[in-house]
Amino acid sequence: MSINPNHPQAPPLAQIPVIRLESAAKVYRTGDVEVHAVRHVDLEVQRGEFVAVMGASGSGKSTLMNIVGCLDKPTGGRYLLDGVNVADLSRRHLARLRNHKLGFVFQSFNLLARTTALENVELPMFYSKPLISLRTQRRRAKEALERVGLGDRLGHRPSQLSGGQQQRIAIARAIVNQPELLLADEPTGNLDTRTSIEIMGFFQELNDAGITIVMVTHELDIASYCKRIVVMRDGEVISDTINPDRRLAATERATLDHAEKQAKLA
Ligand SMILES: Nc1ncnc2c1ncn2[C@@H]1O[C@H](COP(=O)(O)OP(=O)(O)OP(=O)(O)O)[C@@H](O)[C@H]1O
Ligand SMILES: [Mg+2]
Repeated sequence: MSINPNHPQAPPLAQIPVIRLESAAKVYRTGDVEVHAVRHVDLEVQRGEFVAVMGASGSGKSTLMNIVGCLDKPTGGRYLLDGVNVADLSRRHLARLRNHKLGFVFQSFNLLARTTALENVELPMFYSKPLISLRTQRRRAKEALERVGLGDRLGHRPSQLSGGQQQRIAIARAIVNQPELLLADEPTGNLDTRTSIEIMGFFQELNDAGITIVMVTHELDIASYCKRIVVMRDGEVISDTINPDRRLAATERATLDHAEKQAKLA
């Protein structure tokens, strides 16, 4: 049964998992070939968690993220987002829900090449309902870019920025509508170590501020910034553990900065 959170006897939202997959499956059919990309996945993610999804290439991580992000529906089992069965929603309702509740960050940044940083971040607010005035859109986009340290690059186009800066625009765009759930698929895949630490720092800050995060990564190094690590193989979850000694990006960044300063002085 799916829960209607507006029902007077419904449990308070805080007690409902943000994500609940019940034996979720996804079969792709191409001609005669069937690929079982996700098989019988049971997974619950509570508010405030920061989960890494790991696994070899082809193990079903992106397929799972597409289901969780309502970009794709499971072909078997159920997906409840905040207690609501996504299968029951119309396309329009789904689009609104994606826009309001979810933020996405991808490996390839997915920015519009010919538009400025500011305009890229304003984009998700275009589709917001109720409508947001252009002035408010601009102010919020500016604030989001300032939050990721790009307040001085508002008018730059993606091609005029480094990979790390482009990913920070993508993060600003993902958080501008104040999502409750942030989904990231290999957000540091194209970035060097230092920039990766910076990006993980932003994610940890956002998570500390209450945003639930699910992030796909190939690298254990990156997963170790998360609070919980889920591992997939052949479409199944084969391990799901709490990370007892989480790395803290802010501390590591300060240490790196200090070491670089010392090296310059020497
Ligand atoms: N649109 C599609 N049509 C058919 N098969 C697909 C489609 N998308 C993915 N697959 C198949 O589903 C399986 C899981 O793919 P998925 O993209 O989820 O893997 P992944 O774990 O994200 O891999 P990677 O680490 O390489 O990104 C793979 O075997 C893939 O070939
Ligand atoms: Mg993938």
